[in-house]
Amino acid sequence: MSVELTTRETCAVLMLNRPEALNALSVAVLRQIDEALETVAKSRARALIITGAGNKAFCAGADIKEFRQQAMLDSKARTELGQATFAKLDRLPIASIAVINGYAFGGGLELALASTFRLALPNAKLGQPEIKLGTIPGYGGTQRLPRLIGEARALELILTGRTVEAAEAERIGLVNRIVEGDAVEAGLAFAREFTGYSLPVLALARAAVQRALDLPIHEGLKVEADLSTLSFQTRDADEGAAAFTQKRKARFVDA
Ligand code: CAA
Repeated sequence: MSVELTTRETCAVLMLNRPEALNALSVAVLRQIDEALETVAKSRARALIITGAGNKAFCAGADIKEFRQQAMLDSKARTELGQATFAKLDRLPIASIAVINGYAFGGGLELALASTFRLALPNAKLGQPEIKLGTIPGYGGTQRLPRLIGEARALELILTGRTVEAAEAERIGLVNRIVEGDAVEAGLAFAREFTGYSLPVLALARAAVQRALDLPIHEGLKVEADLSTLSFQTRDADEGAAAFTQKRKARFVDA
């Protein structure tokens, strides 16, 4: 299998495992990612970590050798599959962490952009080089990149196709942090910072922030009021306030 799904601690770990092609996203790989996300959504995992096998690449993007051969209709179907798969990642009930261990180009960066968080190993190299191939990003890059780093920077990366190193990626907010060591261990350490909190309340927080990017602020504030009210209906909100007043650590029950 070119996609391996395992469990570490309370987290699911999705490993792209096609290092001989720098973990490029063939249609078969996209389908395997899609299936793995279905499995994760039904599992008890509290976070998903995504990374790439080998020490060179997170993912070098869509499989260029494969899409070269495709007719226009196949190309549309492939793009829709990539978009739908990454939308599934974006809408996963739990947060996802892409740990970028080497190249994250084209569809590889778009996979990371659809994740909730991005961590970069010092050797990370990120970019949307599609323009050099005479094409444009097709798995969400034109939409998610400007939402993340702003229109001007997104256009610069998409129109020049230039590569961003880890330090710049952190500076412009393309990644949350630079991390050292093993990719999965770094992902687990980051996940531990939030996986102890109430799962449904984490999901409400993500849902509220996700809507912020789609709605005018007055409507977004209404969504926030609704979701905040919902969070107060949980047993975990009672427990959190009780633990505070009793000066002890909260014991959340995900309800
Ligand atoms: N598709 C298919 N195969 C790929 C690939 C890709 N995206 N990227 C790398 N490979 C293959 C290479 O062809 C090579 O295979 P062979 O040994 O059989 O020749 C193997 O992986 C190793 O790659 P390189 O020899 O090129 O390794 P390198 O270290 O010299 O260079 C690299 C690394 C700079 C990442 C270079 O491989 C590269 O530029 N890859 C293409 C990156 C790219 O343009 N990605 C965007 C794809 S388009 C896209 O993703 C559209 C979209 O929005 C969905």
